[in-house]
Amino acid sequence: MTRTILVTGGAGYIGSHTSVLLLQRGFDIVIADDLSNSSLRAVETIEVLGDRRVAFEEVDLTDQAAVAGVFDRHPIEGVIHFAGVKAVGESVQEPLRYYRTNLTSAMNLLDEMAAHEVWDLVFSSSATVYGDPEMLPIDESAPTRPTNPYGRTKLMIEDICRDVARADRRWRINLLRYFNPIGAHSSGDLGEDPRGIPNNLVPFVMQVAVGRRQQVEVFGNDWDTPDGTGVRDYIHVLDLAEGHLAALDHLETGCDELNLGTGHGASVFEVIKTTENVSGKAIPFEVVDRRAGDIACSLAEVSKANRRLDWRADRNLEVMLSDAWRWQSKHPEGYGD
Ligand code: WQD
Repeated sequence: MTRTILVTGGAGYIGSHTSVLLLQRGFDIVIADDLSNSSLRAVETIEVLGDRRVAFEEVDLTDQAAVAGVFDRHPIEGVIHFAGVKAVGESVQEPLRYYRTNLTSAMNLLDEMAAHEVWDLVFSSSATVYGDPEMLPIDESAPTRPTNPYGRTKLMIEDICRDVARADRRWRINLLRYFNPIGAHSSGDLGEDPRGIPNNLVPFVMQVAVGRRQQVEVFGNDWDTPDGTGVRDYIHVLDLAEGHLAALDHLETGCDELNLGTGHGASVFEVIKTTENVSGKAIPFEVVDRRAGDIACSLAEVSKANRRLDWRADRNLEVMLSDAWRWQSKHPEGYGD
């Protein structure tokens, strides 16, 4: 009997790459997405790459009746929850929208899962729950002190999941704390397509490489790092997708939090230099002031996920940026809508 998995936000960046892998591993999937920051073109591409049809539901998860309808119409046996608003800077400007959207969606989902006897959940959390780390690398026991409303919604949803799992032992939940997802599907036909001006480094660098933007603004080169620019633990979106399948396969009673990263750091200058190497394009940049809320370095301690999920990220920075460039150069305007 084929297992049916609900993928909320499955038309988005990480959700779409995970959806392809689910199809390739023989799952049936239902994608629920409000298309506020994603494209139906991604769903079409998922079906091509996964060689299997997808049930698509355009739905606002803050509408509980709409969420109930999705469960009524499909034999869902597990859920991977990606959907949510996720721009750190925007969350500082619009905190109420972030709390209402992310928390209401998550509670509606948990309510309707329980109402339909669905107890298996993988949740897209984030390393932003750690805030500015005291120690590096960061393991799952590190203090969680998010410094923005976006990160606080992720931690609050984690806490809700932990409490729900304590109250009813039928729940099996894995909370995945991503570090910095980058890259694209190796076909070059699925990738990151942020609306407007990209907040994150790699999509911005790729848009400079393809000629959509003039130069990269480097947010400070006076950080306490080897070359003075910010260091992050970048992880290939395909490694991340494999981590979600592993998390689904290794669910246990209760609720567990797991870091998904590589354990290796790369600086802004290294990302720019490597992108020049893989694209053959010059990437002009200008060093400007630090961005509010930024930290010098973020690095994952990943042994728990390696052990518990029998999973390890193994694509290096050059592969990540080469795959990101293939997507950007094949689709300079992304999905185009
Ligand atoms: C990386 C490095 C910047 C842009 C994000 C957010 C959140 C999370 C993913 C979901 C930093 C520098 C960036 C630019 C730059 N997503 N930079 N110029 O800030 O580590 O965190 O991670 O949870 O979106 O928490 O990622 O890509 O924005 O920045 O110099 O135009 O690049 O200072 O050192 P970040 P990022």
